[in-house]
Amino acid sequence: MKIMPLIQMPKAPNIIAPPMVEEQLTDSVRATLIARIKQLMLQQNAVLVAHYYTSADIQDLAEETGGCVSDSLEMARFGHAHAARTLIVAGVKFMGETAKILNPEKRVLMPDLQANCSLDLACPADEFSAFCDQHPERVVVVYANTSAAVKARADWVVTSGTAVKIVEHLHKQGKKILWAPDKYLGDYVQKTTGADMLLWQGACVVHEAFKAEALQKMKLAHPDAAVLVHPESPAAVIALADVVGSTTQLIHAAQTLPNQTFIVATDNGIFHKMQAVASGKIFLEAPTAGTGATCISCAHCPWMAMNGLQKLAQVLESGDNEIHITEPVRSRAVRSIQRMLDFAAEQQIAPRMRGAA
Ligand code: 13P
Ligand code: SF4
Repeated sequence: MKIMPLIQMPKAPNIIAPPMVEEQLTDSVRATLIARIKQLMLQQNAVLVAHYYTSADIQDLAEETGGCVSDSLEMARFGHAHAARTLIVAGVKFMGETAKILNPEKRVLMPDLQANCSLDLACPADEFSAFCDQHPERVVVVYANTSAAVKARADWVVTSGTAVKIVEHLHKQGKKILWAPDKYLGDYVQKTTGADMLLWQGACVVHEAFKAEALQKMKLAHPDAAVLVHPESPAAVIALADVVGSTTQLIHAAQTLPNQTFIVATDNGIFHKMQAVASGKIFLEAPTAGTGATCISCAHCPWMAMNGLQKLAQVLESGDNEIHITEPVRSRAVRSIQRMLDFAAEQQIAPRMRGAA
C-alpha cells in the first residue's frame, strides 16, 4: 500500500476582533454631514462604493449620490467602470486595495484604514508564499478577502459569488487547488465541486459564530421561513440552508422567493437592503448566541462598523487615508483579479443588483 505524505498546514494566527463601535448621530448632525459630503464629492469628482454590511446612512448616501452598494465582486466592477477621479470605498481594507489595484490612476480613499478583515489578517503574505512554494504543482486560488501581496502570489482571485464556478472550471481541467484563506468557504467549494483542494485555516469571526443547533431549533419555530446562509459559515450551518450565496445572491433570494419570513446567517447590515427590495417580508437574524456561544461580533462585523459619515467627511476634507499599492505587487495582483473579472463576464456570473433591482 502506498503511504501518502502528510501535508502540514500552517496554523492560521488567532485573530482578535476590535470592539464594536458604531456611529451614533443626531438627525441634525447627520443632515449637516450628508450635505457637506455631497458638496465635497461633487467638487472632487468622487463616487462612493459601499458594501451591504456598512451602516444604513452610508448605504443610502452611496445610492443617493450615484454610487453603488453591493457585494465585493460588484464593488470591484463598479469602481473600475466608473469615470470618477476619486473612489471612496466604504467597506474593509481589501476592498479599497482591490479598487486601487484595478485603478492605479484613480485616487482611492477609505473612511478608516484600520477597517480590516479576520480572513485577511489570518493570511500573512510571507507565510502564505512559503506554503505555495511547497506545493508548486497546485493552482493558487485566493478569496478576495486577502491583502494585495497575497493576491500577487495567486493565480486566481475569487469572491463568494464566483468561487464555485471558477474552482469547477479549474477542476474540469484536472487542476489541483491550493486555497486560502477561509477554511469554511474552501470546504463548501470543495464539497460542491469535488476538486482536490488544500485549505488554509482562516475564518471570518462573524460567520464562524453562527450556531447550527440553535438554527435547527429556530427553523422548527418558523417552519415556513427560508434559511439564507453566506458560505463563510461553518458546514453544519450551511447544511441547514435553503440558499447559500454571496450577499447579492442572498438579497436576490429574499426578493424572489415566495417565503414571507427569512432566517439570515450573515452580517445584519444586509437587512437594510433586504427590507428595501422585499418590503413587508420578515427578516430574522440566525442565532449566534445560545448554548456554547462564543461570538464576539454577534452578526455584525466590527471592521465594517468603522465606516461612518463623520470619518467620510473628514477624509474628503483632509485627503487622508489614501490607499497606495507598491509595484510590482500591484501589477502582479491585477492579473489574478482581472482573470476573475474576465471569467465572471464570460459566464455572466452574479447578476448586478443595485438600487431596488
Ligand atoms: P460578499 O462578496 O458576498 O459581499 O462577501 C464579502 C464579505 O466580506 C462577507 O463577509
Ligand atoms: Fe471579513 Fe467577516 Fe468582516 Fe466579511 S464579515 S469583512 S469576512 S471579518
